[in-house]
Amino acid sequence: MCGIVGYSGNSEACDILIEALKRLEYRGYDSAGIAIWDKGTIKIGRKKGKVDELKKAVCDGTFRGKLGLAHTRWATHGTPSEKNAHPHKAGHVVVVHNGIIENYIELKKDLKKEGHTFLSDTDTEVIPHLIVHYMDKGNTFLDAVRATLKELKGSYALGILNEKERILVAAKKESPLIVGVGNGEYFIASDAPAIINRTNRFIFLEDNDVAIFKNNTVRLINTDGEKIERKIHQVQWSDAMAEKGGYKHFMLKEIFEQPRAISETLLGRIKEEKGEIDFEEINLPDVKKINKIWMVACGTSYHACMIGKHIFEANLRIPVETDIASEFRYREPIVSKNDLLIVVSQSGETADTIAAMKEAKKKGAYTLSICNVLGSTIARDADSVIFTHAGPEIGVASTKAFTTQISVIFMLMLYLGKRLGVLDSQDVRNHILEIKKIPHKMQNILEMAPSIEEAARKYMQCKDFLYLGRGIHFPTVLEGALKLKEISYIHAEAYAAGEMKHGPIALIDEQMPVVFVSPVDQTYKKTCSNMEEVISRRGKIILFTDKEDQEIHQRVDSYFVLPDTIYELQPVLSVVPLQLLAYYIANLLGTDVDQPRNLAKSVTVE
Ligand code: AGP
Repeated sequence: MCGIVGYSGNSEACDILIEALKRLEYRGYDSAGIAIWDKGTIKIGRKKGKVDELKKAVCDGTFRGKLGLAHTRWATHGTPSEKNAHPHKAGHVVVVHNGIIENYIELKKDLKKEGHTFLSDTDTEVIPHLIVHYMDKGNTFLDAVRATLKELKGSYALGILNEKERILVAAKKESPLIVGVGNGEYFIASDAPAIINRTNRFIFLEDNDVAIFKNNTVRLINTDGEKIERKIHQVQWSDAMAEKGGYKHFMLKEIFEQPRAISETLLGRIKEEKGEIDFEEINLPDVKKINKIWMVACGTSYHACMIGKHIFEANLRIPVETDIASEFRYREPIVSKNDLLIVVSQSGETADTIAAMKEAKKKGAYTLSICNVLGSTIARDADSVIFTHAGPEIGVASTKAFTTQISVIFMLMLYLGKRLGVLDSQDVRNHILEIKKIPHKMQNILEMAPSIEEAARKYMQCKDFLYLGRGIHFPTVLEGALKLKEISYIHAEAYAAGEMKHGPIALIDEQMPVVFVSPVDQTYKKTCSNMEEVISRRGKIILFTDKEDQEIHQRVDSYFVLPDTIYELQPVLSVVPLQLLAYYIANLLGTDVDQPRNLAKSVTVE
């Protein structure tokens, strides 16, 4: 999932674009490129590798001009290389693109018949050629752009420069693109953190919107050429929030930001004296009619859904079905109109989750999204949205978004419970008391970071890890294993502890660290037997629990006692040391923690 930026103003564009591109690098970082208009010509620079490679090549003063585009790539069509890097040019038209053009092969074939020559293996390159094709037929540039957009199948966020007429065009369909409104200058970007240091006034483009920048003005039309209005939003994110703040990596900063992120996510929503949760942003239909709750997402957000199932079913006694969005969207799920579909997404732009939501909407379900990015597609297209207030999450491995998602799900349980009459004001007050203690308890866990780093040093050379937990701790260990895989590239598997004897126990030997998350709750004793089975096969146990237990303490290799809390909130606490363990192992191994290989922060294509 690529990152796009554009600038039209009175300042030199090159440095502005390169700096903004750096801030978008977490979206994709296998190659980058820039195009700057100056005195009637567009100068293009492209490099394989990270934005710094491009910076070295173009920030030498030769790329002058006050109008330009830049792009950082996550390859989908055509291997990472200079020729496949964006921008792509045909005639006097230059294009950068995020998304996938599904019908590019047919378009390319027809254009080749007309004599168009293609220099790259990308799907994107058909776009400037198609615009030229329509201009050759006598259309104006803007009519040619609109005709081209109508022919494209798939998803796109586009920046298009016309060399002859000095016009910049931005267009989007199913890929994120925003307009930044500055003082006498304009920006386009794939998301806000890229340009938050230049402006916090944004226009969130909708599907089929086209923005035209000429002579430092902007006008909005749709692909039919009709004038459209869009609101300018003021976003409360500060530049500092998009910086590392003295931490070595964004991921570590975001792990340590979790107490604040949760406090801010609770802010204004918990009404203790009334024993109530206030979600003014949602207008659910009669909750008593809710037949079934679906919770659908991808990756870390899906793990939050699995925890949501435990929280909702235990307290609301409404059946909850969770599903991975990429499966849900194609398996014809039996969704009915009295169902509530909850989609969870940090970025709000994950293609599979968007499609799953559309699928459920088609079947008449009410859609509620839990999202962290204002103006994102999932936030806008759901019937209601509840925002997590985690602030910008830059590290590709999601951390604070996960714990704030669980906090919102917990509050939503109280909100629904009260309206279903299964919880009264005192019940809600008691639960509010518990979640208000979480930020402080989390702070205590963060102070254990040095001893968790010690454990990381002890196990960093191991090639495989097994993570085990029961009940609500199973999705927590799934999340722990995912974190380790994502950033350290070490193979890690998570299982419900009761499943261990049915297979994974075969993997255990003295080389295999086995991470247990097992607070002292109704399944603790069962999990202790699993630990005995691991110990008797000389497996190395790292145990995260919430009460001192001398008996087992002497028999495991690493032992961490975390602050306790109620069952529903234990994942919010017990995931933190798993995040830290993964972080310290990856940092010690020297991997690119914030931008791990092959990954991207928001998966906007399926
Ligand atoms: C998590 O660390 C990963 N970045 C990935 O699994 C992520 O959770 C998934 O792509 C879903 O993203 P979303 O929450 O933005 O929809």
